[in-house]
Amino acid sequence: MSVECFVTGGSGFVGQHLLARLTATGHKTWVLMRSPENIERLREQVGRLGGNPASIHAVEGDISREGLGLSEADRQCVSSVAVVFHLAAQFTWGLTMERAREVNVQGALRVARLAASQHIRLLMVGGYMLQNLTHLAHVGVDVECPENTNWPLVYERVGGYEGSKLESHFAVIRYMQEADADYTIVHPATVCGHSESGHILEGQPLAELIRNLAQGRFKAVPGSARHWLPVVSVDYLVTMITCVAFDPSMANRQVLALNEGTPNLQRMLAQLATTLEVKAPRRHVAIGLLKWLLTIPGLAARFAISTESLNFIQTQRFDMNYSKQLERKYQLTHPDLARTLEKTVRYVKGYLPN
Ligand SMILES: NC(=O)c1ccc[n+]([C@@H]2O[C@H](COP(=O)([O-])OP(=O)(O)OC[C@H]3O[C@@H](n4cnc5c(N)ncnc54)[C@H](OP(=O)(O)O)[C@@H]3O)[C@@H](O)[C@H]2O)c1
Repeated sequence: MSVECFVTGGSGFVGQHLLARLTATGHKTWVLMRSPENIERLREQVGRLGGNPASIHAVEGDISREGLGLSEADRQCVSSVAVVFHLAAQFTWGLTMERAREVNVQGALRVARLAASQHIRLLMVGGYMLQNLTHLAHVGVDVECPENTNWPLVYERVGGYEGSKLESHFAVIRYMQEADADYTIVHPATVCGHSESGHILEGQPLAELIRNLAQGRFKAVPGSARHWLPVVSVDYLVTMITCVAFDPSMANRQVLALNEGTPNLQRMLAQLATTLEVKAPRRHVAIGLLKWLLTIPGLAARFAISTESLNFIQTQRFDMNYSKQLERKYQLTHPDLARTLEKTVRYVKGYLPN
């Protein structure tokens, strides 16, 4: 069955692959774009990723503007969609709390308002840290009663991006529940490239990690042998997103998209280093010590590493039972991870300076 969809963040990494998947499976898709003049470039890119460019249409807007800044005509177009996919986010380290809140929290609420007002299912992309209850408690999020959370303190501890992802998650759920509206949330691990092409956009956290390794900036492995950086391939992720988005039984449910076969960080770095033909770090450095070292002026820039990114390296293991149940239902499997990482490295190598 082909339906119409509305996507925010369609020009981003996950968004491009989502557009490819939606349009390849026959769905006409409206994409919210801050710069709609880039639509032809986006169509070409989605075509290269296996989608149908002719099924993509731009609507001009910005999630940081009231009503997403949509014209009345565009609002009408969007009112006929079956699912609103919300992926747009300011995804950078070093964001101020004010900026992160304006785009990632208020922006998500504006998208939620649009979906709820038209009785459209909202598919929101969160992040796997939202399923790490130990971490949430540690940084001060009151999961039972999120409105009791001291959010400025949480932002201080985890930085603008993660703080806003955590806050927006609880704010959107609360809003959708009060509006008696339908939502589904997918929480991805760190996203790696496409399992066949290795495609990943520059600036993605995993691409940056590969760049740092290639440029010899990893002098030691952050954390211990128990630490890992869970990943998921972008193709598995968008397949999971589209499966749950159109599944009526997924109303008001959340699912993790994470490959639990991800090796520990040391082994993952060793795998990446083999493909890069560079030496992998062997010694470990405690994350607390590394964070402290990064406060020394110039060091964070020299090692191109942000303390915020270190929070994603952790020892937590996740309960994957529900994800596995859904994988069986949708006949979905993770592509081979070692091969996917190898393809991702080869893709990233293509845009690294020699
Ligand atoms: N990639 C990961 O490893 C990862 C892991 C966990 C969760 N996530 C979540 O997955 C989602 C997609 O991530 P991604 O990696 O695809 O991000 P991305 O490549 O950085 O793309 C971000 C997208 O958001 C759009 N955007 C930013 N500010 C906007 C605004 N004010 N109004 C409208 N659009 C705006 C950008 O549009 P422009 O082209 O106009 O800049 C772009 O399309 C995000 O919610 C992110 O938090 C990602």
